[in-house]
Amino acid sequence: MGSGCAPRRSPRGSTIGRTTVSDPLQVRLPRRLTAPEPGWVTEADVIVVGSGIAGLTCALALREKGASVLLVTKTLLHAGSTEWAQGGIAAALDPEDSPREHLDDTLVAGVGLCDEDAVETLVTEGPQRVRELVALGARFDTDAAGEITLTREGGHHRDRIAHAGGDATGQEISRALIAQLRRVAEDPGIEVIEQALVVDLLTSEDGSVCGVTLHVIGEGEIDGVGSARARAVVLATGGLGQIYSSTTNPPVATGDGMAAALRAGAVLADVEFVQFHPTVLYLGEGSTGQQPLISEAVRGEGAFLVDGDGQRFMQGRHPLGDLAPRDVVARAILERMAATGTDHVWLDARHLGADFLQRRFPSIVARCRELGLDPSTQLLPVAPAQHYASGGVRTDLDGRTSLPGLYACGEVSCTGVHGANRLASNSLLEGLVFAHRIADDIADRLQTGLPQCDPAPWPDPPRGMVDADILDSGHRLDVQRAMTAGSGPVRSASSTLKTLRRLRELADLEPVEAEPGPRTWETTNLLHLGQALSVAAHLREETRGGHVRSDYPERDDEGWSAHLLLLRDPEDGELVTIQLDVDLAWPEGGEA
Ligand code: SIN
Repeated sequence: MGSGCAPRRSPRGSTIGRTTVSDPLQVRLPRRLTAPEPGWVTEADVIVVGSGIAGLTCALALREKGASVLLVTKTLLHAGSTEWAQGGIAAALDPEDSPREHLDDTLVAGVGLCDEDAVETLVTEGPQRVRELVALGARFDTDAAGEITLTREGGHHRDRIAHAGGDATGQEISRALIAQLRRVAEDPGIEVIEQALVVDLLTSEDGSVCGVTLHVIGEGEIDGVGSARARAVVLATGGLGQIYSSTTNPPVATGDGMAAALRAGAVLADVEFVQFHPTVLYLGEGSTGQQPLISEAVRGEGAFLVDGDGQRFMQGRHPLGDLAPRDVVARAILERMAATGTDHVWLDARHLGADFLQRRFPSIVARCRELGLDPSTQLLPVAPAQHYASGGVRTDLDGRTSLPGLYACGEVSCTGVHGANRLASNSLLEGLVFAHRIADDIADRLQTGLPQCDPAPWPDPPRGMVDADILDSGHRLDVQRAMTAGSGPVRSASSTLKTLRRLRELADLEPVEAEPGPRTWETTNLLHLGQALSVAAHLREETRGGHVRSDYPERDDEGWSAHLLLLRDPEDGELVTIQLDVDLAWPEGGEA
């Protein structure tokens, strides 16, 4: 393990890293965020948190199976990352293609760290789930014969990406699922609460999850902080892109579900593997927040990268050239930027022609035009920016986490499908496939058990620590800057340490300075996940997939064919790291 750790062997052969008090790697997390006492209570069989493809699919499937469902979402139903997915959804729909080939491409992209069973589940169940989505009303782009047209993206050896509205796939899927939700709006068995931020998870004495505390901007009874009780909680809260200064993720992507799960004791895995999308429109130095994505599908249709001298630099670098897996392309761009002293490279799509570009990529063309760019006549300035969290709350094949009663689905989860780097357009598919598996599992268990447990009082704070903490929202930029500088697309031992020191300073600020509320809770979630991510990024002394270390530029299969698991020790609040070799079984936890 990395510097500063005192490793010891666990009975199962994994290495457990703990740190000494003076070590900047020592991270202590509170059990919960400072928040007003719950002023109201509601309940359902199952609470689903989040309204992207994962949350909506899961909620609808659970309701169909007879469970009562409370679906809560932080702002509006359509405001999450699904809405922004351009490229599409990957599935072996072409008779010439096969799940086996999709599996092979996924494993290659994941650079040795995918869980093969999870990938097999994804690729074999995926095609049928996409057909069901069509039956539900999602309108994918089709050819004259009415067959879904498939395109290619990085890392795929076949055309297998179904898309909608050209480059508005997520929007169409979101529309179809929300329309279905509206069709069942009269059903008292499914309740939807918008503007509802989950603050923390409620757990019983034995660690089982019995519900959530949440803050609702509402009217009437359900307003302010309350508690929602359930026999199972499904986190489908999406990613954590706002942890960095620039990202393709929407503003709501503040890692709330992942952070709440971590504080409650759930195991997180592979969080150091952050995907930086190679072709994000570069809007100039200091441009922060959500940035416009130029879909990989544009390269799938023939666009290519050039440097400031007009030289193509992906040819000869990888057999798939400009369509190499995302981590390979992003790294090549970063290297070219460093070598030429620039902050972006260029994407050349001019030869595709104005008509084709308009027809195939209407949203991208419109966004470029708004910004004064014409992709049919001009090169587009692009640079990598944060795009996707490949790790998250570790689950089994039924979406169960290490805490009984807690499930995770979609980007918040780590099913093992993505390994060190997600294959393009596998994320919508993962949300879809595993949402159904979770609904099946919960529905079965509601028949046979899964009792409603009682939340234990919040535990006493570990010694030397206040029982709940928050970081004022005024420090959000500080977290983002620290993460971007030290735990961003290229990291090193010294850069991650610097980041951890800065985050520790922020964590040690007096909480009295902070005003509890949604912006502050989100900022604290970013801080907690930033600390966890930076510890993992510091410990993994190699370069693999989305994790690039300038001081360890090679992949190290000998030392690092392993996952890093992170969890909070309930005794003292300390973040514990476990190095788990890929050939070891996942540790059992709860009922997972
Ligand atoms: C893209 O269209 O390039 C993004 C799709 C994805 O993240 O899989």
